[in-house]
Amino acid sequence: MHGQGLLRTENWELPAAHYNSPVMSSSAIEKKIEALREKIRHHEYRYYVLDAPEISDAEFDALMNELKRLEAEHPKLITRDSPTQRVGGKPREGFVKAKHSSPMLSLDNAYSEEELRDWERRVHELSGRTDIEYMCELKLDGMSLALVYHDGRLERGITRGDGNVGEDVTLNVRTVRSVPLSVAKDKLKKAGIPADFEVRGEMLMPLAAFRKLNEEREGQGLAVFANPRNFTAGTVRQLDPSITAQRRMNYFAYMLLKDGRTYFDRQSKAMDAMEAAGFKVNPNRKLAKNLTEVWKFIQSWEHKRESLPYEIDGIVIKVDRTAWQQELGFTGKAPRWAIAYKYAARGAVTQIENIVPQVGRTGKLTPVAWLKPVPIGGTTVSRATLHNMDEIERLGVKIGDWVEVERGGDVIPKVVKVVEDDKDRPRGDQQFEMPEHCPVCGGNVVRTPGEVDHRCVNANCPAKLQGTILHFASRHVMDIDGLGEVLVNQLTERGLVKNVADLYKLTKDDLLQLERMGEKSAENVLAEIEASKRLPLERVIYGLGIRFVGERTAQFLAEHFGSLDAVMKASAEELEEVNEVGPRIAESIVEFFADEHNRKLVTDLRKAGLTFTGQKKEKGTKLAGKTFVLTGTLSRHTRDEAKKMIEDAGGRVSGSVSKKTDYVVAGSDAGSKLDKARELGVSVVGEEELEGLVG
Ligand code: IVH
Repeated sequence: MHGQGLLRTENWELPAAHYNSPVMSSSAIEKKIEALREKIRHHEYRYYVLDAPEISDAEFDALMNELKRLEAEHPKLITRDSPTQRVGGKPREGFVKAKHSSPMLSLDNAYSEEELRDWERRVHELSGRTDIEYMCELKLDGMSLALVYHDGRLERGITRGDGNVGEDVTLNVRTVRSVPLSVAKDKLKKAGIPADFEVRGEMLMPLAAFRKLNEEREGQGLAVFANPRNFTAGTVRQLDPSITAQRRMNYFAYMLLKDGRTYFDRQSKAMDAMEAAGFKVNPNRKLAKNLTEVWKFIQSWEHKRESLPYEIDGIVIKVDRTAWQQELGFTGKAPRWAIAYKYAARGAVTQIENIVPQVGRTGKLTPVAWLKPVPIGGTTVSRATLHNMDEIERLGVKIGDWVEVERGGDVIPKVVKVVEDDKDRPRGDQQFEMPEHCPVCGGNVVRTPGEVDHRCVNANCPAKLQGTILHFASRHVMDIDGLGEVLVNQLTERGLVKNVADLYKLTKDDLLQLERMGEKSAENVLAEIEASKRLPLERVIYGLGIRFVGERTAQFLAEHFGSLDAVMKASAEELEEVNEVGPRIAESIVEFFADEHNRKLVTDLRKAGLTFTGQKKEKGTKLAGKTFVLTGTLSRHTRDEAKKMIEDAGGRVSGSVSKKTDYVVAGSDAGSKLDKARELGVSVVGEEELEGLVG
């Protein structure tokens, strides 16, 4: 039973024999490995739970690498709770259902002090007491998740599901660094927690990670998530755990159970105990003596919540004593002993007067709701994004509808909900449809299968044009100082500039026609435009605004081909030989140059005298014809450096392991790619060996 327990979860994929029994032998190496693991666990705890690291990332990586190395030498000593084993297993096809030890309930809500007092009155009446203490906790706006520990080791992570049965998402949960894979016996004992226990809490995505990931998705033409909660749910239910691992999720514990029942005699004690055992427990909590103190706590967080690095939507108030909780019991799906006070959303209800698609630089049409102006948190809001057609369908929103609009942090206002069943606010009846032609230029609008966004395909669309010129002139591209938004709009509106090549035809007289343009400024702008002609080839490639071709890709293309003509002539296959160019980018480049307008543009830029050739980087031949895959966290080089090293030596770097792969370069925390390499018998090397290979 003991050793077996480790492997009970159905989601764990390596054979039982792969893991050694955790029972300690006296061997020195085993001791050394276990000591190293303890050290790493301590630093993970300092970093991910306490947000207070004691060592640098590099020092931490060095410890991890040392452990990886020792484990690679002694694979029999690998245990499932080793810090090296967070990301393991392959993408799954679906999730297995898992039953909860006791139902995961929801909470009733209160929206005012009065409703809170009503709740307290019921608590007093039903319990026959008035001396009740309340635990006040932040209501974290994520996704609730149960963690089942067996013999101190994390056995399963289960989503709430319908409350009785959830989904087993263990492999994903294991990648979350604030979730302990195991808790040492002595620590549990000290905290007063039994070896078999369950923690329930909230998985959430910090706002910074949410914004960054959404930006990346936007850039890739993928659907953006409306809020961190949706993103969290999408991440927890990811079939590929390596994706979950990259998303920097956080887990806060707020309940401790044994056999489905509350274990401590007070909620406040359970929170302290979980904290002592190494779980991340939200520090912003208070044991209140009465409802007046509760109310103070609620009010104090009304504004402070704005500065939290994650979202909360209220305060949860729980009767602290377990015995009294049990007396109070449940109604349907919610306990009588707890309530959620919900803050009024930073939002308002208003009416949608129209829905208008707005065209961006990439040609994406974003449906924007034009609202009856309404004040939200100090400013008047008259526009809110509806993101895309999928979102419009999800909300079921129509023009004329009354809607709830929210504005959170620095996020642009968005429509969150349609107001239904309100006779004073009847439903709208005008369906919004994405136009078939671009509202700005009349070009065709298409939705590529597999993408959520509609785009205007006309390369000469003025909306695209303004964005494209601003991009072209920006500091990292052609660095044309003084060519800002106002000037670009003037130039395009007057028809003086119809594409980026027209910039090079501008005369002083052209510029002097424009409002607020003096001699000196005109001369400066022209000098800047002239100077840009001397910028290297990679800037020109970047400046063309080819979808998915960023600064780095442009650089690699320039180095690989040595001229714009060679890039234009390259087939998708040839393009894929370039560092970091995959099928999607290659196809986008081919498509760009297949377009007649774009070819004409290139001709005009050539005539204008821009730099069309560069230094072709001659490659080494040591690794010619060899394909590499990088996986895990490298410690001696960044991933990009390693890639460059390989490519400079004539090798190729690919994203996935196949029979054609010659070497897999594995860093620490290597996951499914390493498994695949082993499965296929591909050589696995470390960073040092790679250095040896490239010489
Ligand atoms: S206690 C029966 N504590 O709110 C007790 N829940 O509306 C139920 N939540 O599903 C959970 N922060 O996802 C509890 N400090 C907290 C919470 C919290 C957020 C969420 C949780 C739950 C939902 C109930």
